[in-house]
Amino acid sequence: MLVFSEGDREGKLIKAADLTVGGPPVHAWPQDPKTSVVRNASRLNELLIIRLDPAELDEQTKARAVDGILAYSAICAHAGCPVTAWVKSDVGDKDVFKCMCHNSEYDPRAGAQVVFGPAPRRLAALPLALADGSLSVAGGFIGKVGGAQPG
Ligand code: FES
Repeated sequence: MLVFSEGDREGKLIKAADLTVGGPPVHAWPQDPKTSVVRNASRLNELLIIRLDPAELDEQTKARAVDGILAYSAICAHAGCPVTAWVKSDVGDKDVFKCMCHNSEYDPRAGAQVVFGPAPRRLAALPLALADGSLSVAGGFIGKVGGAQPG
């Protein structure tokens, strides 16, 4: 399962209805459905959950989305800062995930590929499933989590 990692609803389950189409993303931790333990011991587990119009997604990204909802690692692939911003891209007119440490930008519509900045690779993606309106993790990360170089 997935729970909010910050804000008023920290620790509460994230439902599809909690997500606004077009963002901004919600920050989340995975939670073990059997033990209810929130997997927050490592910040490498923090996730960005975003809901987009399925028509905006490329084919590969669409195949992994549920109702346009996608999950990515919140850890920048450059030097491992948290990716905190959802802002208009420096190189286009769409909103993108942005790491404010060195301005890397990632497009969640295209598998979080790097569209600007020094990051050497995309954010890792996490497959999701949706049952009764609640989101759960459907598999391991696709791609590597964490930064490529020390801060
Ligand atoms: S750590 Fe994110 S851009 Fe450098």
